[in-house]
Amino acid sequence: MAPMLLLFFLCALVHCLRAVTEVEVLLDFKKNIINGASLLPDWNAENSTLFCSWRGVLCDESGAYVTALKLPGMNLTGRITNQIGHLSFLLGLDLHENNFFGEIPSSLGNCSKLFYVSLYANHLSGAIPASLAFCDSGPIRHLLLSDNSLEGSIPSSFCNTSSMVIRLSLRSNKMNGSLSCKPQIIRHLDLSHNRFTGSIPNNWTVHYLDLSYNSLSGTIPARYSDAVILDLSNNMLSGEIPAPNNNCFWLQILDLSYNRLTGTFPESLGTCMHLHILNVKRNLMAGEISLNFSRLGNLNSLQLSGNQFSGLIPRSLYSFPGRLDSMERSPIDTKYVYCNSGLLLLDLSYNNFSGTFPEIFCTWDCLKVLLLSSNQLSGTIPKCIGNISNARVIDLSSNKFSGELPTTSLINLTAFRSVSNWSIGWYSFLNLGHNSGTEADDFTAYDKPFDFNVNVKGRRSTYQKLSDSFTMFDVSSNLLRGHIPPFDHLQGLMHLNLSFNKFDGQIPRELSGLKSLESLDLSSNALSGSIPPALGEISSLSSFNISHNNLSGRIPSSGNLNTRFVEAAFDGNPLLCGAPLPPCHVPSSNLSPRSPVINDWGAPGKLHNVSSVQISFDAS
Ligand SMILES: *[C@@H]1O[C@H](CO)[C@@H](O)[C@H](O)[C@H]1NC(C)=O
Ligand SMILES: *[C@@H]1O[C@H](CO)[C@@H](O)[C@H](O)[C@H]1NC(C)=O
Ligand SMILES: *[C@@H]1O[C@H](CO)[C@@H](O)[C@H](O)[C@H]1NC(C)=O
Ligand SMILES: *[C@@H]1O[C@H](CO)[C@@H](O)[C@H](O)[C@H]1NC(C)=O
Ligand SMILES: *[C@@H]1O[C@H](CO)[C@@H](O)[C@H](O)[C@H]1NC(C)=O
Ligand SMILES: *[C@@H]1O[C@H](CO)[C@@H](O)[C@H](O)[C@H]1NC(C)=O
Ligand SMILES: *[C@@H]1O[C@H](CO)[C@@H](O)[C@H](O)[C@H]1NC(C)=O
Ligand SMILES: *[C@@H]1O[C@H](CO)[C@@H](O)[C@H](O)[C@H]1NC(C)=O
Ligand SMILES: *[C@@H]1O[C@H](CO)[C@@H](O)[C@H](O)[C@H]1NC(C)=O
Ligand SMILES: *[C@@H]1O[C@H](CO)[C@@H](O)[C@H](O)[C@H]1NC(C)=O
Ligand SMILES: *[C@@H]1O[C@H](CO)[C@@H](O)[C@H](O)[C@H]1NC(C)=O
Ligand SMILES: *[C@@H]1O[C@H](CO)[C@@H](O)[C@H](O)[C@H]1NC(C)=O
Repeated sequence: MAPMLLLFFLCALVHCLRAVTEVEVLLDFKKNIINGASLLPDWNAENSTLFCSWRGVLCDESGAYVTALKLPGMNLTGRITNQIGHLSFLLGLDLHENNFFGEIPSSLGNCSKLFYVSLYANHLSGAIPASLAFCDSGPIRHLLLSDNSLEGSIPSSFCNTSSMVIRLSLRSNKMNGSLSCKPQIIRHLDLSHNRFTGSIPNNWTVHYLDLSYNSLSGTIPARYSDAVILDLSNNMLSGEIPAPNNNCFWLQILDLSYNRLTGTFPESLGTCMHLHILNVKRNLMAGEISLNFSRLGNLNSLQLSGNQFSGLIPRSLYSFPGRLDSMERSPIDTKYVYCNSGLLLLDLSYNNFSGTFPEIFCTWDCLKVLLLSSNQLSGTIPKCIGNISNARVIDLSSNKFSGELPTTSLINLTAFRSVSNWSIGWYSFLNLGHNSGTEADDFTAYDKPFDFNVNVKGRRSTYQKLSDSFTMFDVSSNLLRGHIPPFDHLQGLMHLNLSFNKFDGQIPRELSGLKSLESLDLSSNALSGSIPPALGEISSLSSFNISHNNLSGRIPSSGNLNTRFVEAAFDGNPLLCGAPLPPCHVPSSNLSPRSPVINDWGAPGKLHNVSSVQISFDAS
């Protein structure tokens, strides 16, 4: 009996000794946290036998060893104790979204079973300890260190060919150096928003590779198309986009925007049939596009803006799907409508495309953002435009479109008709879990919103997500003529820009029905007649410009129209008077809006501050 009892006692003693060590580490962990006393009140020595039930502590089945510390988002402020290396059974350490500062303890590499470390969104600094690549028994499989202030380069220990890290995220730190040492990451590597320089090694292959917002130079790596998600945007990459390696069956997102790429697309990019997003915005690409888009039927977003592409808008785009039958309501939230196929965003702006408006665009029911601004497009704006019923942003400005606006069909722009409740959190429609095998969470971190640029309220603005109600229609700087359509019933329209055209006739009073309108720009046309007082009723209006027309009479005071906007909004209308312009010398009813002198104005913009002179001349 006695020996057995002794054995039992010994076991218990060993067990106990071991447990004390764990408790000591935990108490030291707490001691290093400035606000630990208030945030971890149950972590105390009196309670040490219960350490497995302390907040955020997980133990193994025997209740002897700490297997995980899980304390995210608690505002814990302090250092991570180096003693943590003694938790030799630790599998997971999750302290993200706290206020930890100081260095990552190098002893973490002593935790031989550790495979999951999540320290993102803290204030950690210094270099990444080389030991982190390897615990005694193997590499840490998930290492999430984004949004800290880490410095230095990637430790060469991460490049040991026998180590395989599943996911490494160093996004938004201050790391630098070259990428010559390629971490053996098999799934997910995010080094974006750092200061890495040099070129991208040719043989890098990762399912998810985000190197955006660095200072990388050189060319696109040859095996880029082996990725599922590849974001190399905002670097200094040059050269042409290489032909995809073998096939690019997996590639879903290719973002090469904001680089210095030249040439045109390799034709074989057309084999990347699962591409959802293709973005080459703001590069130096040029020439006619020979890429055959017809097999890229899964594209949801195509952004080519800010290059020097020329020729016609590629006809192969015409074969895109995008009909209503491809739209689905999310089973989770009926508020969201997904377009599983069909373009949501088409941005061809700031290029040199010529030819006419492809009427096929009108059949794309998924299309929400259509940007054709600043090209050489000509011909009329077709009647069918009203059939792009879900379009929220149509920007056809700075082209050579002529003829009249197709008045009646604009009423069919249903997304402009009421304040919409549709929300498109952009990439959220992507079902990326599908192809990624077991690691369903691999791609969830890629939530970079798309962005597009439009002129809003007189400023060039970048939009990153469509807010629930954002709508705009911009046909400024074209050669459009005729009367301004009443736009009745487009109550959801927020931004309307018809400036720099040749519209004549009166400002339709029906515009006052646009109850959501925030900006209205009718400047530099040939509009005449008086300003409809009803315009003052648009209380949401914060940007208003009717300058450089032939408008006449007293500026109405209804809705404080005459005090809400400065002189520049009314300038260049010689027959217009009253605040904020100089006062009317004669009753406005005596003014003839059709004076022959007035009808022969030369170029707008040359007649500032002559209104009172003209008015007395006219009245005499
Ligand atoms: C001891 O820990 C338990 C479980 O966390 C907790 O409910 C209790 O309040 C703690 N007691 C003391 C004295 O801290
Ligand atoms: C977080 O902790 C710091 C330091 O203890 C404190 O100053 C701050 O108010 C806390 N913030 C929140 C949101 O609790
Ligand atoms: C980690 O291991 C190394 C070498 O095995 C040792 O020198 C060091 O003291 C250990 N650190 C901790 C905190 O356990
Ligand atoms: C590479 O990893 C192995 C274990 O997989 C280890 O024995 C070796 O020391 C490592 N080499 C370097 C340079 O880190
Ligand atoms: C990295 O940045 C540090 C300063 O944070 C600097 O001293 C070092 O020279 C840089 N290294 C490289 C390779 O640019
Ligand atoms: C990648 O290429 C570099 C040279 O370009 C070479 O040193 C390295 O061994 C290659 N790595 C792999 C995994 O092929
Ligand atoms: C594009 O490819 C499709 C089939 O993949 C083919 O039918 C079509 O003729 C091609 N278009 C052009 C312009 O090459
Ligand atoms: C744009 O296209 C026109 C013809 O449509 C051509 O004359 C002009 O040179 C092109 N400009 C550039 C910058 O490519
Ligand atoms: C708009 O679409 C409807 C239904 O598909 C069609 O009947 C009508 O002709 C189209 N309108 C124009 C102007 O293309
Ligand atoms: C407006 O849409 C309806 C229904 O789709 C269609 O029948 C009609 O032709 C459209 N009107 C115009 C002017 O496009
Ligand atoms: C938007 O949705 C809310 C409820 O989610 C509803 O109360 C409101 O009437 C809707 N607005 C429009 C314009 O449909
Ligand atoms: C309307 O378009 C013109 C020319 O494209 C631009 O200069 C102006 O700023 C725009 N107006 C508003 C209110 O955005």
